[in-house]
Amino acid sequence: MASNRKVMVLPGDGIGREVMQANMKIIDWLAKYRSLGFDLSEGLVGGAAYDAHGTPLTDETLADSMSADAVLFGAVGGPQYDDLAFELKPERGLLRLRKEMDLYANLRPAIVFPALVDASSLKPDLVSGLDIMILRELCGGSYFAEPRGIDVREDGSKLGYDTNAYSTPEIERIGRVGFDLARKRNGRLTSVEKSNVMHSGVLWREVMIRLHGEEGEGVELSHMYADNCAMQLVRAPKQFDVIVTDNLFGDLLSDCAAMLTGSLGMLPSASLGDIDPDTGIPAAMYEPVHGSAPDIAGKGLANPLAQFMSFSMMLRYSFGQAEEADLLEQAVSDALAVKRTGDIMTPGCEQTGTDGMTAAVIDAMDRLA
Ligand code: NAI
Ligand code: MG
Repeated sequence: MASNRKVMVLPGDGIGREVMQANMKIIDWLAKYRSLGFDLSEGLVGGAAYDAHGTPLTDETLADSMSADAVLFGAVGGPQYDDLAFELKPERGLLRLRKEMDLYANLRPAIVFPALVDASSLKPDLVSGLDIMILRELCGGSYFAEPRGIDVREDGSKLGYDTNAYSTPEIERIGRVGFDLARKRNGRLTSVEKSNVMHSGVLWREVMIRLHGEEGEGVELSHMYADNCAMQLVRAPKQFDVIVTDNLFGDLLSDCAAMLTGSLGMLPSASLGDIDPDTGIPAAMYEPVHGSAPDIAGKGLANPLAQFMSFSMMLRYSFGQAEEADLLEQAVSDALAVKRTGDIMTPGCEQTGTDGMTAAVIDAMDRLA
């Protein structure tokens, strides 16, 4: 892998800045004790970029992000930007990055740590040991495909419509990511659509079956209708390993799976694009699922674990550092048994803030190393 691990760091706003600062301590630890170095650059995005440059993402920051091997993102937004024009809103910076980098594969793991089994909305025995991955197509389908709009009809009534269109290449590229992921995990891939009622679903299933024959060696592929998948996720989530699905179903199913794990402050994500033929590394951005949390920003209370686990996904999927990723995830798990931030607090546990939680993870890494 030809790379000196060029990472563009975009902390953003609110607690995005706080959890990113905490993440730097993990990066320092890896440099010191594992000789694992990163070539880091930092930029402004969201409200911070608007304050400095009048736009949520400058062309220069976009270019730097695209030339890096990976982007590590915090969170953007805040009430002070609510009245800005649509195109100037902090979130537009994030959406522009995703679109320009063509990050079509959104990976959302749902992992239940032993210490947090009680935080799930399901009974402990249904979720203990849960570790599934939802892979959502992010650049096509109902949110982007044409035609879409609101028309006024001859009788004066209106018609609002979107199109859930998927082409063969679009399904192939997300399907490939699915087979790769499954191969790196437990070898099981569930492809989710509604081929019983939707043409896009019929093509989706047809392409997945062909791709399985051509490049799916070592992976067990099954198919499920999206409505049944929603039901199965809350009935018996441990039956799944990797789920691959379209943009709309993925939006719903990933939020559903998220609640199995308990807290927003624990959820990481990765968004991947095409593999660079020179480096063998996919275009990639890693970010926690949560936002800038204006209600707790500046108070040192934010849970940094979603950011840490986003970083651990970077180690795994961009840089092939599975051993370090495992170490960090184990340290997160160990730290939860000792200390908790407010969002995941349960009686009997010691409450702490961002710094204390970070220190607990570092301590656990020291012990594991
Ligand atoms: P939010 O995720 O920022 O906060 C929702 C609730 O969860 C709040 O009570 C917050 O304190 C809590 N929370 C979130 N992350 C936490 C963490 N790491 N530790 C402890 N508690 C945590 O969502 P909200 O309030 O809807 O949006 C706030 C701002 O963030 C808005 O401007 C929104 O547009 C933006 N946003 C940005 C996202 C991004 O950058 N990817 C995603 C979601 C929202
Ligand atoms: Mg959603």
